[in-house]
Amino acid sequence: MCGIVGYTGNAPAVPVLLEGLEHLEYRGYDSAGVAVVSRDKGLQIQKCKGRLRTLREKLDSLPPLEGTVGLGHTRWATHGEPNDVNSHPHVSQNGRVAIVHNGIIENYAEIKQFLLHKGVAFRSDTDSEVVAQLLEYCFNDHSDPLDAVYAVLDRLEGAYALVILCADRPDMLIAARKDAPLLLGYGDGESFIASDATAIIAHTRDVAYMEDGEVAVLTRAGIQVFDQYRRPVEKEHHTIEWDVSAAEKGGYPHFMFKEIMEQPEALRQTISPRLKGGELCFDELPLTDEKLRSFDRIYLVACGSSYHVGMVGKYNLERFLRLPVEVCLASEFRYSAPLVDERSLVIVISQSGETLDSMAALREAKGLGGYILAIVNVVGSSIAREADAVLYTWAGPEIAVATTKAYSTQLALLTMFGLWMAKRLGRADGADYAAVTAELELLPGKLEKVLADTGIYQYLGSQYFSRDCVFFIGRNLDYALGLEGSLKLKEISYLHSESYAAGELKHGTISLIEPGTLVVALATYGALIDKAVSNIVEVRSRGAEVVALTTESLAGKLEGIATYTIAIPDTHPALQPNLGVAPLQLFAYYIALQRGCDIDKPKNLAKSVTVE
Ligand code: AGP
Repeated sequence: MCGIVGYTGNAPAVPVLLEGLEHLEYRGYDSAGVAVVSRDKGLQIQKCKGRLRTLREKLDSLPPLEGTVGLGHTRWATHGEPNDVNSHPHVSQNGRVAIVHNGIIENYAEIKQFLLHKGVAFRSDTDSEVVAQLLEYCFNDHSDPLDAVYAVLDRLEGAYALVILCADRPDMLIAARKDAPLLLGYGDGESFIASDATAIIAHTRDVAYMEDGEVAVLTRAGIQVFDQYRRPVEKEHHTIEWDVSAAEKGGYPHFMFKEIMEQPEALRQTISPRLKGGELCFDELPLTDEKLRSFDRIYLVACGSSYHVGMVGKYNLERFLRLPVEVCLASEFRYSAPLVDERSLVIVISQSGETLDSMAALREAKGLGGYILAIVNVVGSSIAREADAVLYTWAGPEIAVATTKAYSTQLALLTMFGLWMAKRLGRADGADYAAVTAELELLPGKLEKVLADTGIYQYLGSQYFSRDCVFFIGRNLDYALGLEGSLKLKEISYLHSESYAAGELKHGTISLIEPGTLVVALATYGALIDKAVSNIVEVRSRGAEVVALTTESLAGKLEGIATYTIAIPDTHPALQPNLGVAPLQLFAYYIALQRGCDIDKPKNLAKSVTVE
């Protein structure tokens, strides 16, 4: 979604802003802009539709924007089409304030109407512009900018991360947050603000996360934070541990490819602190045995790929725990009168920790008395902070819009948590526990083996890139895995694909299988291999071409049946999707590459979806 970066210090602001925006490009955007303020020249703004390089070209062709205080924005359109005028920053009618905004101002129409009646002329079709115009209007009654900001915030409904520049206060930035992330960066004689740490990590690792209702005033001398009643707030500082190189491509052609290849290491980071001497340990969790015993059902709540993690998790957790597990799309959850109560364990899964749908579901579940456990990658993110307990995946920054290493680590972590909980409740089968934990130790190494040779995926990409449609089929854990394979393909290659429980084909979908249809058949789940084989025969006999994914020990069963067979190492069934997902990611990657798609930044998609 939209990205924000702000700077105040002694260096020229524009290069700092552009570099920060570059690091935010991965979030997905359709236009970009910067604004600076200086005593001599007041507010100066440049913005345009398109990629950052278009903005750079525009800036290069004009006299430089001079100023050491400024803000930048990458926009992902919600209200108003992507064009130059709708891009941020937005400036008020008389040029007194410039603002950037992430989120949605829900009552913007009402505010706009009010201001139109006062004679204010609007330029854009956005909800965000009302903030700039309302601020200037409030300056009539408030000479102190902070007074005006509080007066505006009082009238706003919806979600916002706002950063404001005032022409007559060229020494400072003002920021406000509600339901959209903002973090403050503390430098030496300079201060930063950003929607995401990647934008400022090159300058400072000393950060603090803004909370809902807070307002911050940034000057080069430091940062003051106030709560919603304007009382000063002492912020807790955090140190960003990961290195800036983790957010760079490091010689790989795409972030997505880099992140696919990083999965073995990411899994080590997830697994090793929680697996000691063959025993699972979650020292970070404040859950007592009594609390664990109190849960009579589990909800797995998430969106997109994180939801697919939940789909795999349901099979594993129900097997380990013998408790009912419900997987819920976060965007549906709060509108479905969920039956959550104090006996419910609600596990919210999110890479970014900022997905608005997931956050809203979390709050709904919390309000109903559920215990919230978050599985999150981004440290200090909103979901992590609002949950009762958090498990971090420790996968490092994920930049490509299509998730890969976050999915893998979420999956491993959820399986580990389920097994750990089963052991604590005395429900774990001893042999199973020993087998899964032994395989967890081996998992990163086995995944390295899967990733060692990408030749077959490259070849399949060249064979199948021009197809119109692909079907993924599988049963049980393979069905859940197919959902993710299909989403990966759709997201980055724009190729239509469907994922079906293989047994469901004959209930309708098989009518779409005709000579030449491509079917990716997932056949890694040993307990149902004969049924998987029957389903492959079923589609083959209707002329489908089949790429089958199976394990080394099951490969013999598929001999002479599929068009191509890929065999991956065997592991415990509960962990098999962790190895199975990598071929599907690579398949999607090479198809998208052949189709000339913008792999890291697929059209219309954003890395962190902070609107409903
Ligand atoms: C995955 O490749 C997608 N980009 C998307 O489905 C994503 O998983 C979803 O938006 C949820 O994001 P989150 O994990 O950050 O909450």
